[in-house]
Amino acid sequence: MTDLFSPITMGALSLPNRIAMAPMTRNRSPGGVPTALNAEYYAQRASAGLLIAEGTVPDPSGYGYMDIPGLHDARTQEGWRGVARAVKARGGHIFVQLMHMGRISHPDFLGGAQPVAPSALQAPGQVWTHAGQKDHGTPRALAAEEVAPLAATYGRAAALAVEAGLDGVEIHGANGYLISQFLASNTNRRTDEWGGSLEKRARFLLAATDAAIAAIGGGRVGVRLSPGSTFNDIHDEDPEATHAFAIAELAKRPIAYLHILDSRPGWDVAAQARRLFGGTLMLNGGFDRARADAAIASGAAEMVSFGTPFIANPDLPARLRADAPLAPADTATFYRGGAEGYTDYPPLAA
Ligand SMILES: Cc1cc2nc3c(=O)[nH]c(=O)nc-3n(C[C@H](O)[C@H](O)[C@H](O)COP(=O)(O)O)c2cc1C
Repeated sequence: MTDLFSPITMGALSLPNRIAMAPMTRNRSPGGVPTALNAEYYAQRASAGLLIAEGTVPDPSGYGYMDIPGLHDARTQEGWRGVARAVKARGGHIFVQLMHMGRISHPDFLGGAQPVAPSALQAPGQVWTHAGQKDHGTPRALAAEEVAPLAATYGRAAALAVEAGLDGVEIHGANGYLISQFLASNTNRRTDEWGGSLEKRARFLLAATDAAIAAIGGGRVGVRLSPGSTFNDIHDEDPEATHAFAIAELAKRPIAYLHILDSRPGWDVAAQARRLFGGTLMLNGGFDRARADAAIASGAAEMVSFGTPFIANPDLPARLRADAPLAPADTATFYRGGAEGYTDYPPLAA
C-alpha cells in the first residue's frame, strides 16, 4: 500500500518519502542573506522527502518582513549555496519558495520607496518593522510595462537557485502576497491586460510560473495556492472560479507539483484540486500521520506537507514512522531569535 513512506518521482526528483516541510518564514537572514545557522536548520530537517525553504524575495521590491531572505544577486545566492551544500551533505532535497510581498510591505523595507501592487489599495493591519509595528504602506499600482519584467524576476531567481545547488523553486501564489493580490478581485482593480476578468487576474501567476519553467524546466518548479483563504485581506468575489481557472491552467504545464493550503471550511478545496490537476498534488494544513496516510492511500494527494510540526521536530519523518509523540513548538520564537527555538530542538534520542 502506498503511504507517507513510499518513495516518489516528482518532476525531476526522486524522493525517498512523501513528507514535505512546508515553507515557513523564520526571520533569521539579516540583510536578505541566508547564514550558516539557516544552513544548519535546514540540514537538521533533511530527512523530509522535500524541504521547501521559506518565502524568499526574487526582487528587492518584494521585501516586507524583517530579516527574510532574498535570491536576486550574488550575495543572496552565495547564502543559498551554503544552505544547499549543507542539505546535500545530508542527502536531502530542497526547493526555495519565491515570495514577493507586494502591498504587505512597508517603505522601511524598501529604502523609503512605496510598496508595489496590482492596485493602489492599502492592506488593513500592521507589519513588524525594525522600528516597531507600523501600518502597511499604501502601495502604488504597477505600471503596465512594469508587470512582465516583475514576473520575469521569478525566472531569474529560479536560475540563481539551481546554479546555487538548490533543487528547484516553489512559486508562492498563496496567502495574500503579490501573486495572490493579482488573483483576487478585491486587490486587483486593474483594467489592463493584468486585471478585470479572472483570466486576466491569473496572468501574473502564470507568467511567473512560465518564467521559472523556461529558466530551469518544469520538473523543478512547484506552485502554491491557498484557495479561499482570506489571509492578508484577500476577498475574491468568486474564489472557487478563480482557482478552478488557475489550477486548470497550471495542469497544462509540466510542473513538478501543485501545493494546496487547505484552510477553507465549507468548500472541498482539495477535491477541486484533485479533479482539475492530474500531476503530483501536495496537500497542507493541520495534517497528522493518520490523515496524511489516508489522503495518500485514497489518491486524494501524492504528497503531504507539514509546517509547525517540523519546527520542534527536526526528525519528523522518523517520529511519524515510530508513532512517537511530537514535541510542541514555542510560538514566541517563530519569527525572531537566533539558535533558540530554531536549531536547538533535539531529535529523538537514539
Ligand atoms: C512560522 C510560520 C511561518 C510561515 N511562513 C510561510 C511562508 O513563508 N510561506 C508560506 O507559503 N506559508 C508559510 N506558513 C504557512 C505554512 O507553510 C503552513 O501552510 C501552515 O503552518 C499550516 O500547516 P501546518 O498545519 O502543518 O502547520 C508559515 C507558517 C508558520 C507557522
